[in-house]
Amino acid sequence: MKDVSVGICGLGTVGGGTFNVLTRNAALIAGRAGCNIRIARVASRRGRDDLDLGGVPFSTDIFDVVNDPSVDVVVELIGGYDVARELVLAAIANGKHVVTANKALIAVHGNEIFEAAENAGVVVAYEAGVAGGIPVIKAVREGMAANRIDWIAGIINGTGNYILTEMRAGREFSDVLKEAQALGYAEADPTFDVEGIDAAHKLTILAASGFGVPLQFDKAYTEGIAGITPYDIAHAELLGYRIKHLGIARRREDGIELRVHPTLVPQSHLIAQVDGVLNAVLVDGDAVGQTMYYGPGAGAEATASAVIADIVDVARLVASGGSPRVPYLGFRPEAMADLGVLPMEDVQSAYYLRIQAFDHPGVLAKIASVLSEHGINIESIMQKESEFRDGRIPVIILTHTVLERQMNLAIEALESLSEIDGKVVRIRAENFN
Ligand code: HSE
Repeated sequence: MKDVSVGICGLGTVGGGTFNVLTRNAALIAGRAGCNIRIARVASRRGRDDLDLGGVPFSTDIFDVVNDPSVDVVVELIGGYDVARELVLAAIANGKHVVTANKALIAVHGNEIFEAAENAGVVVAYEAGVAGGIPVIKAVREGMAANRIDWIAGIINGTGNYILTEMRAGREFSDVLKEAQALGYAEADPTFDVEGIDAAHKLTILAASGFGVPLQFDKAYTEGIAGITPYDIAHAELLGYRIKHLGIARRREDGIELRVHPTLVPQSHLIAQVDGVLNAVLVDGDAVGQTMYYGPGAGAEATASAVIADIVDVARLVASGGSPRVPYLGFRPEAMADLGVLPMEDVQSAYYLRIQAFDHPGVLAKIASVLSEHGINIESIMQKESEFRDGRIPVIILTHTVLERQMNLAIEALESLSEIDGKVVRIRAENFN
């Protein structure tokens, strides 16, 4: 059997997991790949005393991997934007294939990297960058190749989902975030998880691979979960909904929607049952209908599972001497659509509104009339006498679908009413129809 040599850059959570699984399951992975996958070199700015490298050469300069002539495949697991970009472009320039788990890199620099890789005839594979261990890139690029993909929606940040799940059980946001960091789920900068930036990286990649459009991370709309309160979680539940932090991408004639925000989803939908660090991605295709991919979205060996699946794909190619089989973003570059990202004002959604009202006669009628003047249909309304405090009472409203532009105007009008105290809280809602 032939040997295919990989060099691993980065020995953090995912790097360590990849080394361990590649070593532990070497024989069965070789049986699947049709070649031995040999770890030729490992490099990391910081060593790991807890990891037995079994004599594999180690260096603290990650560029040693890229410059090692024996390495066929560079596995980039350092994360971040700039050094990772330099490393990957250097690997491509040296004619090496690349496997990466770095969603930030692909979302921001992917167009440039794929062009360089196309010219060099090498693979850049990024399955592990999206939804951890779930093979959703393979599903979207290959399994759904027959379909026009109309929309993709998912829980694609394990840390955020872990936080929202534990908050539902009554725990404090900051305690749960610390726990998610200790478990190795969170990004080096956890604001990426909490503010939706990590999810936007992944959604950008999913949308590009599913719709055949360029990567446009800088246009994605992101709203985080820091403002979600136990009150809203509990009241969404009373209305039959659950709050999840979703990435939603939709392909329309006039552009694509690309948005990450807290979202009410019906409790009866499967996605509402996806808890903890688990991720799930719904992909709607015109031929197959709605499909859902579910599994661990973060963690050492879960992510290593996806990294190694890509290594196996590339190793088969190297061993057979073939050329790259699947286009980087699922479509040949000349078949990509030049569709831009639509502004949020052009997006349609249902809404959960929380309005702090003074408890005067006629307040509900005023609120209803402002919504009706803006063409907004109310699906349900809730006000509980037990929540009356200091002359104020919260009014919770669930609306039918409306254009965001209309909702912005309605909220502005509501906030200007003398019967309303402070800002209106709004959370979008999705029924996946
Ligand atoms: N911080 C990410 C998450 C890791 O929580 O989902 C996996 O991409």
